[in-house]
Amino acid sequence: MPETARSHAISKAVIPVAGAGTRFLPATKAVPKVLLPVVDRPSLEYIVEEASRAGIDDVLLVTGRGQESIIDHFDRSPALEALLEAKGDKARIEAVKHSAQLAAITATRQDEPRGLGHAVLCAASHVGDEPFVVQLGDDIIDGRDTILPAMMRAHAQFGGIVLALLEVPTEHIQRYGCAATTGVATTLDGFDVVAINGLVEKPAPQDAPSNLAVIGRYVLPPEIFPALRETAPGAGNEIQLTDAMAALLAQGVPVHGVVFTGRRYDVGDRGDFLKATVQLAAEREDLGPEFRSWLIEYVNNELKQ
Ligand code: UTP
Repeated sequence: MPETARSHAISKAVIPVAGAGTRFLPATKAVPKVLLPVVDRPSLEYIVEEASRAGIDDVLLVTGRGQESIIDHFDRSPALEALLEAKGDKARIEAVKHSAQLAAITATRQDEPRGLGHAVLCAASHVGDEPFVVQLGDDIIDGRDTILPAMMRAHAQFGGIVLALLEVPTEHIQRYGCAATTGVATTLDGFDVVAINGLVEKPAPQDAPSNLAVIGRYVLPPEIFPALRETAPGAGNEIQLTDAMAALLAQGVPVHGVVFTGRRYDVGDRGDFLKATVQLAAEREDLGPEFRSWLIEYVNNELKQ
């Protein structure tokens, strides 16, 4: 039986970014998906900021071939800073430095995209024998919502695996991993924490055990690495993280889910990415007022036609 009720303080996050980003082609032919700008910042910067706000100071990016520009974004850029300095543009100097100040950011290479589970396994030597966080770039969590710290607290209390869950309309559950639960275990920071006794990948609505979808935040114990090594390629011939988590669940590792009820911006496909861009731009203090007025006028004119 693996040791699961550890309560190490979590200091490391792993962000896999090596996927092919096929839904955004041709934009992602040369530009990694996580560098596509949401308003004026790469989507990945929002994700790293979320980790930093949760107290994580060590972020490992699992990158693929040709993604060196991702590392450049999180590095200092002395030439650019000097140029802005010469212009006296203090605000932009701060904006340019910001990404490099969020955490110690390093990268490891996934040789080819063999699935999310394989990408997480690439982090094994960096993570070592500690629990850690995994964040996926398709979900941007609003800075005012604190699901990641709540998940880390749930891990300190229950050990094992902690997932982020979102209630979705039943007809949408087939796009996600789905959790079977035995009810609410506790409430943390205003979020319900449920005990999970089953995980099903992309079920048909009539077969789904609930309408709770697994979204892109995980707290994982180090036992996930041996489980991933033993996981055969599954759906899409990829090594699936869900399969390794289901194997740990079957071995008796506790699995809990924190039910997210806050503001989340889906940047995983083109339509949702557009909605996220509009929402986040409308909420910005600098751009928001003018953008909202334009948007209202645009929508009113469209409705008249
Ligand atoms: P997705 O399945 O969303 O794939 O992976 P994707 O490549 O981002 O997008 P599409 O579906 O082709 O448009 C979920 C996360 O896991 C990473 C991806 O970069 C994404 O952040 N991933 C996936 C890897 O790092 N390696 C893999 O082998 C697969």
